[in-house]
Amino acid sequence: MCGIVAYIGNQEAYPIILKGLQRLEYRGYDSAGVALLDQKLTIYKKKGKVAELEGSLIGKNLHAKSGIGHTRWATHGEPSDRNAHPHRSPSGKLAMVHNGIIENFAPIKKELQNKGYVFQSDTDTEVLLYFIEDIYHNDATSLEEAVRIALKRIIGAYVIILLDEAHPDTLIAARKGSPLVIGIGKNEHFLASDASPIIEYTKEVVYINDYEMAIVKPDELILKNPGNERITPFITKLDMELAAIEKGGYEHFMLKEIFEQPTAVFDCLRGRLDAKAGTIRMGGIDKHLELLKEAKRIILVGCGTSWHAGLLAEYVFEELCRVPVEVEYASEFRYRNPVINPGDVIIAISQSGETADTLVALENAKNQGAFIFGVVNVVGSSIARLSQAGAYTHAGPEIGVASTKAFTAQITVLYLIAIKLGYAKGCLSRDRYLHLIGELALVPDKISEVLKSAPAVAALAEKYKDARDFLFLGRGYNFPIALEGALKLKEISYIHAEGYPAAEMKHGPIALVEDSLPVVFVATKDSYHDKLISNAQEIKARKGSVIAVISENDTVFQDIADETIAVPAADEILAPLLSVVPLQLLAYYTGLAKGLDVDKPRNLAKSVTVE
Ligand code: AGP
Ligand code: GLU
Repeated sequence: MCGIVAYIGNQEAYPIILKGLQRLEYRGYDSAGVALLDQKLTIYKKKGKVAELEGSLIGKNLHAKSGIGHTRWATHGEPSDRNAHPHRSPSGKLAMVHNGIIENFAPIKKELQNKGYVFQSDTDTEVLLYFIEDIYHNDATSLEEAVRIALKRIIGAYVIILLDEAHPDTLIAARKGSPLVIGIGKNEHFLASDASPIIEYTKEVVYINDYEMAIVKPDELILKNPGNERITPFITKLDMELAAIEKGGYEHFMLKEIFEQPTAVFDCLRGRLDAKAGTIRMGGIDKHLELLKEAKRIILVGCGTSWHAGLLAEYVFEELCRVPVEVEYASEFRYRNPVINPGDVIIAISQSGETADTLVALENAKNQGAFIFGVVNVVGSSIARLSQAGAYTHAGPEIGVASTKAFTAQITVLYLIAIKLGYAKGCLSRDRYLHLIGELALVPDKISEVLKSAPAVAALAEKYKDARDFLFLGRGYNFPIALEGALKLKEISYIHAEGYPAAEMKHGPIALVEDSLPVVFVATKDSYHDKLISNAQEIKARKGSVIAVISENDTVFQDIADETIAVPAADEILAPLLSVVPLQLLAYYTGLAKGLDVDKPRNLAKSVTVE
């Protein structure tokens, strides 16, 4: 959600932190700030973009060898200069940044107010900082000890990093429920919410786990557990290039990522699917194949687009593996006291691997004995580490807030699992199995074909950009794609859009149909095609505009629809990998035509690390 960057070493901290904050902008935020320590602590913070903070600091003396930076996504208190981070302690000697939510801030704030403290902001963060300093002055021998004592009372999620004027050679960091990575340089350390601000300096990183605390000096990284015992940092080598997180010639990350889908799907299949040999090899599945075969039920858990991938997987697993499947919004599942039985397998789906609701839902399910299988994009992320087995989606970093290539990679992994499992369970004949494998191998090239429709979709977006509402309809495997198309459009163009199973239209939404309403049909040829044709006729009869994603040469739909975008023919199960692409493009070009910030739509965050 928000971003945190910190530096301690021999270089100038400010430029490193500033660049790091820019790299984390994709996560979504509303204000930015930095605290620098050069004998004295100075803090600069501002509502708005990192560029505005940077502009306001031109000409200032910003020399410092250590510092902390933050992009805030407000949870407690409006976005404002005052509420932006870093916050300063009452003595003025400590600065702190925080990502997350302190749930029990209210009683602690009361206690501190009773002691005479006066708060400068509305944030929960400032309460924690004042609490830490109060303990530091009265009950602890060091800041490290004060942080440890304070965090024992905290309910909520956090990454915090503190800078102390009295100890310029030390940063103190701690995490629970929000991400923190520490990059190890030569006599320097880089701290950040993810690896993107770090990779240009070092590839050696340590992922901090929940409840761990890091005492970071230029030449030393001490990790401790809450019992104050030292833990050996586990160093991971980053397998990521800087170019992978830059725009590579595209106008926006979202467009770049839409166009990267042939590669993303290919990378996801690479080393796993061998169409010639007729095999699917996946370490995480192979190791647990018996357990998966025996599964009494599969529960797919995720949020947003990842939930849509889960919904599609429900259709696919039930069809190919004949196993009962449930799809759960993580935020509901975590609070609903769900019935989890032995033999239930949870498949967690998350691009970022840091979504707070998904993470806690999984922790709860794991505590109840469920087996957790992760389908995650970000390597080393919290969900990846919590999972007992998994398959990475290998889509590469996704920077645009709207999930595009991560979604196609997620469903690719889910197809692989379902096809492999279905065959292992004997639910698929060898012919059907080989057919599906062969078809899957053709998908990257077919997506490249679909991408050629981009100029046509751009023209269509221009034509319909002023619509107030959009309806997206689909059936079967394309129903989750209708939902995803609607979500994409609202995220990027701020046009109200609803996705529905096409037949449900008659049970309510049809009341909305009038000549100004564009209705998008996800209508590739499948077993429900004739039904969908009737639904499209019903819209036309009421003067709605029909825009349809169709299979090539579908002359029937071409005759009915006002606009069509054709995609290559594919097995109906796999068609969503193609039919979703024009809908992503439609969202992108509509946002663009409306002059909106497509990579960072308002109010949204890339990684939702608060519930
Ligand atoms: C998709 O475009 C979203 N912005 C959002 O719905 C996202 O899919 C959701 O927040 C889940 O994120 P995750 O995959 O990182 O867990
Ligand atoms: N809860 C804190 C605030 O509202 C931190 C939010 C964030 O993670 O950016 O200031």
